[in-house]
Amino acid sequence: MRHDHLITSKQLSRADIETVLDRAAEIADDPAAAADRHTNALLGLLFFEPSTRTKMSFETAMKRLGGNVVDMGSVESSSVKKGETLADTVRVIEGYADALVLRHPKQGAAAMASEFVDVPLLNAGDGAGHHPTQTMLDLYTIRENAGLDDLTIGIMGDLKYGRTVHSLAYALTNFDTRQHFISPESLQLPREVVYDLHQQDDTQIREHEALESVLSSLDVLYVTRIQRERFPDENEYQKVAGEYQIDLETLEEASDDLTIMHPLPRVDEIAPEIDETEHAAYFEQAHNGVPVRMALLDLLLSGGEADE
Ligand code: CP
Repeated sequence: MRHDHLITSKQLSRADIETVLDRAAEIADDPAAAADRHTNALLGLLFFEPSTRTKMSFETAMKRLGGNVVDMGSVESSSVKKGETLADTVRVIEGYADALVLRHPKQGAAAMASEFVDVPLLNAGDGAGHHPTQTMLDLYTIRENAGLDDLTIGIMGDLKYGRTVHSLAYALTNFDTRQHFISPESLQLPREVVYDLHQQDDTQIREHEALESVLSSLDVLYVTRIQRERFPDENEYQKVAGEYQIDLETLEEASDDLTIMHPLPRVDEIAPEIDETEHAAYFEQAHNGVPVRMALLDLLLSGGEADE
């Protein structure tokens, strides 16, 4: 995999994805073998929005490769608060680190910031845009649980603002998939994403308002949170809040082999009673963030070569 920056899953080929997932599997099998791959390497963390999983798993990944992190900290405690631009901020921090991880509330922020730096920049979520490193751990989890070809997946919840959804949908077009999108009408996938997906030969897509119409055919159900913070109008959020919750009763029509995923955090869309079932893969999915981000960092910091 040879990319200067990772901004969107659209830039990834099937070969790129398989290279990362294969490397992540090697690391997961023998984490100790990767422990000194990047001694002294420093990863710059720039999180302009809250995060638990992405930030901490990147930090864990860099440290498990023998490196360390430099963290801008919260917006409130940084010079962003004094009015420093994103372009200036990344230009400064690239002088402190070998690669940068950026999360920002504005769609397009990572693409813009990458124009100003020479070190690799990884998009850790740009508003309602993309979240390609989440997609990598999603694909890894799908491959482990259901396989990536001849896959029937349901993607449910906030498809309009859901950056994990946008990135995953594009990445899955590299495989033979049937993608079912389940949401209220007001939170459907952006029309340009639907258009792009329809252009792909190996991808069939359908949109639904009810999970029941498709549940029994699914290998994977990918549930997402309705993201209150992205709604311009609280009244619009209230109209859809609490829709698309699943519990054990919902799953009566599901296949015994159904894998349930969620990028997390969840609010109320998956009942805790599902956590102890064989269906639940969302905590495993979050844990997969470490070997997958180790693989990404290893490949980027090694110039694309898994073994130097
Ligand atoms: N899945 C995800 O991006 O979680 P965080 O917001 O906690 O990083």
